[in-house]
Amino acid sequence: MDAITLLKDDHKTVEKLFKRFEKAGDGAYKEKRTVAEKIREELSRHAAIEEQLFYPVVRATVDGVEDVTLESLEEHHIVKWVLSELDDMDPKDERFTAKMTVLIENVRHHVDEEEDELFPKVRDQLGRKDLRELGDAMEAARRIAPTHPHPRQPDTPPGNIVGGAAAGIADRVGDGAKAAAQGAVSSAQDLIGRFLGNRSSDDARRSGNGRSSNGRSSRGRTASSTARTAASRSTRTASSTAKKASSSARKTAGAAKRTAKASASSTRKAASSTRKAASGSTKKAAGSARKASGSAKKRATAASR
Ligand SMILES: [Fe+2]
Repeated sequence: MDAITLLKDDHKTVEKLFKRFEKAGDGAYKEKRTVAEKIREELSRHAAIEEQLFYPVVRATVDGVEDVTLESLEEHHIVKWVLSELDDMDPKDERFTAKMTVLIENVRHHVDEEEDELFPKVRDQLGRKDLRELGDAMEAARRIAPTHPHPRQPDTPPGNIVGGAAAGIADRVGDGAKAAAQGAVSSAQDLIGRFLGNRSSDDARRSGNGRSSNGRSSRGRTASSTARTAASRSTRTASSTAKKASSSARKTAGAAKRTAKASASSTRKAASSTRKAASGSTKKAAGSARKASGSAKKRATAASR
């Protein structure tokens, strides 16, 4: 899929959710919670694929977008903080709707800026084939992207690709996600490396410097090889981080199961000893009642004599 079409579709999806939130009545707390969770999930995934792929690629290949992409990263940063605060906030909290309103305003401003300033430049300077390849990699990355905001994590490569893969897995643990993460990380890194390498070659060709005997610029080769080395290192780290995250999640789940079992068994023991104690005291009480009644009878007989 074309990268810009994919991002615009995402923008439409969140706009629909924003309208649904705005339509919810003051007391519609359940609806507000549901919609806020969907918004959190959509925006977390959308920010991750832009930061892992779209921004790095356009910064390296498109002229005149450096400022707008840096501003976009800062806007994402604020959105992720607000989302993380909303994550554990009760919709009945007096700040919940106010916070959501500020979040919506921020995202709408960000979307306008991307669609009016950034996307037209990218569309002009990147070919259809490149945009399609980039979109395909973004679609793959979205399948394993984090579903919760992680505002403290790096938002540029390679840190965000390593951290993003681990966060995506921690957000929804499973062996399927782990395998997908490794594939998507490799394809994302390959793509970034390829774009960075091409871009540096083009620059060198335009300036007429650094051409080597095989016709390829030494600057281009260096940039491309650096990108590839970083890519392979990041892929290895991401894969090992993903493995660790998945294994520790399995251990935590196992420990939770054991604790639940132990607590169920002690509850059963406690219930049984309570039953025994109760039945013992009932028997004793009945015995003493019988004795008391017997001696009362004897006293009454003695008195009547
Ligand atoms: Fe964005």
